[in-house]
Amino acid sequence: MQIHVVENYEKMSELAANYFAEVISEKPNCVIGLATGSTPVGMYSLLGKKCTEEGLDFSEVRSVNLDEYYPISPENEQSYRYFMNKNLFDKTNIDKANTNVPDGTAKDVDAFCREYEAKIDAMGGIDIQILGIGRNGHIGFNEPDSYLVPFTHLTALTESTIEANSRFFESEADVPKHALTMGIQSVFKARRIVILASGADKAEAVRDMLKGNISTACPASLLCLHPDVIFICDKDAYSLV
Ligand code: F6R
Repeated sequence: MQIHVVENYEKMSELAANYFAEVISEKPNCVIGLATGSTPVGMYSLLGKKCTEEGLDFSEVRSVNLDEYYPISPENEQSYRYFMNKNLFDKTNIDKANTNVPDGTAKDVDAFCREYEAKIDAMGGIDIQILGIGRNGHIGFNEPDSYLVPFTHLTALTESTIEANSRFFESEADVPKHALTMGIQSVFKARRIVILASGADKAEAVRDMLKGNISTACPASLLCLHPDVIFICDKDAYSLV
């Protein structure tokens, strides 16, 4: 794992946006793997600027998102589809038909998960995947457990994640209790993974990822086994390493 410790959130976002811009410039029809949450917002805003001000062309870019609450409608302002439209897709010239976010309204969840996984394969896999890290070490919604489901699946969110995500909702009771998420094996299909962490509330998770054992108790620690991972974090997130 390549590690970059930078001064702050802005520097982290800048470096991450540059890695993505490089892949998009070199391979205009690349497949980018995307995450939601607070962490990649700065990077998405910079990619939007690169598109509108510097001509970075998203017209052939294809994307696949890690996860989505379940059940939730794509029109719901708390849905990850809504988040992606607002924070990245509407700021670039990406063709929405080329963007994929798990379907929070899927009736047959098992069939949906199989199709999502097959779609990633049919696209030729992910060229570059962005990840955030949960305070409990989760990636996507692969929560710490004694075992992990390798491929796209429906999962129950842990109390810690529900509490962390309640900041986006009116109350904790409104946070959906389930999500569709790509599995660890789906994430590992990415040729390159860029994982970001910012702020002191991520310091324990970062320490466990880098200094603990490789364990499903800290799903992010499994990334140490992937051949091309770039970890970019700010000083606060790195403070316990
Ligand atoms: C979101 C996702 C989650 C977040 C993680 C960190 O698509 O996959 O794993 O990356 O919960 O969230 P933030 O960035 O809000 O701290």
